[in-house]
Amino acid sequence: MNILLLGSGGRECAIARKISQSPRAEHLYIAPGNGGTGAYGQNVALSPTDFPAIADFVKANAIDLLVVGNEDPLVAGIRDYMAQHMPGLLIVGPGADGAALEGSKDFAKEFMGRHGIPTARHKTFTANEIEEADAFLATLAAPYVLKADGLAAGKGVLILPTLDEARKSLREMLGGMFGQSSAKVVIEEFLSGIECSVFVLTDGHGGYRVLPVAKDYKRIGEGDTGPNTGGMGAVSPVPFADAEFMAKVDERIIRPTIQGLIAEGIDYRGFIFLGLINVGGDPMVIEYNVRMGDPETEVVMPRLLSDLVDLMEGAAKGDLADIPAEHDPRCAATVMAVSGGYPGSYGKGLPMTGDLNPAESILFHAGTKLDADGTLLTSGGRVIAATSYGATLAEALEKSYRAIDAIDFDGKYLRRDIGQDVMKN
Ligand code: AMP
Ligand code: GLY
Repeated sequence: MNILLLGSGGRECAIARKISQSPRAEHLYIAPGNGGTGAYGQNVALSPTDFPAIADFVKANAIDLLVVGNEDPLVAGIRDYMAQHMPGLLIVGPGADGAALEGSKDFAKEFMGRHGIPTARHKTFTANEIEEADAFLATLAAPYVLKADGLAAGKGVLILPTLDEARKSLREMLGGMFGQSSAKVVIEEFLSGIECSVFVLTDGHGGYRVLPVAKDYKRIGEGDTGPNTGGMGAVSPVPFADAEFMAKVDERIIRPTIQGLIAEGIDYRGFIFLGLINVGGDPMVIEYNVRMGDPETEVVMPRLLSDLVDLMEGAAKGDLADIPAEHDPRCAATVMAVSGGYPGSYGKGLPMTGDLNPAESILFHAGTKLDADGTLLTSGGRVIAATSYGATLAEALEKSYRAIDAIDFDGKYLRRDIGQDVMKN
C-alpha cells in the first residue's frame, strides 16, 4: 500500500516510524516532513493545505491511503475535497463536519450538551452580547476560562484570575485578539483536576479502538508555570488513568461521542483526541481534537504493538472489524528540547550536534531540517524529542533525559520535571 502522510512535526515523525514498521507499507511519503522523517519514507515539498497539489500527487504516485496528521487541512475540508476529486482514496481524518469538534469550541460544547457528555458549564457570546457575557461571568467563580471559538494554534484559551481581568480579556478577544477565531468566545466554568489525553481511532460505523493513554506537559516552565506551548514532554501510561477511570471514560465519553456522531449523520473515520480532566475521580472533557496529540503521539505510537497500517486502513474503509490495537505493557516517556525563547520568538537554522543516534532511545524530530550538505539544523520552536521505554516511568524518563542531554544546539531548553506529578512510589 502506498501512503501519503501530511504534516511536519514530532507527531508525524512518530507516525511515519510506526507506518514504516508495517509489512503493509510499500512507499511512504511525508509532506512536507522534517529532518527526521526522511529516515522512514520520502519527504515531498507539498503544503498540507494545498488540496489540488495533494490530489495531483496522489494520482501521480498511486497513493492508496492519505493520513492527515494536523488539524488545519481537516478543518478546511480535505476529506470532502478528496471525496469529490479522488473518489476511492482511503483517508484517515474526518470531513469538515466532524472536524468542527476541534474547529469550533462552541460546536464541540453544544455537541457534548446534546449527548450528555460531561464537560464544564458554558455559554458562547459574540460582540453584540457583551452585557449578557458580563452577567454570565458574574455567575462563575474565579478563575475565569475564556476560549476563542475557532482555531488559534493552541493559544486561544485564556485563564484569568479576577473578574475585572476576565471582562477586559473578553473585550479584547471579541475585538479581534485572535482574528475571526475569537469573533465568538466560549466562557466556561474552571475545572480543577489533573489532565490526560485519550486517543480513539474510529471507523464511522460504531467500531473503535482506544490507544494507550498519555499525559502531556503544556506549560514552558517547570511545575506547570509560564505560557502554554505545543507540549514539552509526555508519559504513557498515566497512573491515575487506571482500569476504573478508563471504564468511566469509555462509558460516559467515548461511546456517547461515537454514537452522537452517528446520530448526527457525521461519518467520522479517523483519530479523536479527548482532552480530559480528572475531577475527583470522574472524567470530564476539556476539549476535542480531531487528530493525534503532539508530543503524546511520541509515546502512544511506541506503545502500540499492533500494525498501524491495518488499523488506519480499517478505519478509513469504515470497518475496524476485529483488527486489534494491543498495548505494550512497558512505560514510555518523551522529553522535548525546544529553542531558547520558545513559545515567544526564537532562532532558527541553528546547527545540531551530539549523539543523533542513541542506542537506548528513539529520537523524533519536530522542528529540524537537513541543509543541502546534510547538516542537521533547527527549523522550529519544538526541535526534537527523545522517547524511551522502561519498566517504570522513572526508568523511561531517566533514559530520555540522558538521550536529550546528549544533543546540543545554541539555546537548547527543556523541562526537567516531565512525569513527576503522576509518578507514584
Ligand atoms: P484547550 O485548548 O481547550 O485544551 O485549553 C488549553 C488548556 O487550558 C487545557 O489544557 C487546560 O489546561 C486549560 N483549560 C481549558 N479549559 C479549562 C477549564 N474549563 N477548566 C480548567 N482548565 C481549563
Ligand atoms: N499536546 C496537545 C495537542 O496536541 O494539542
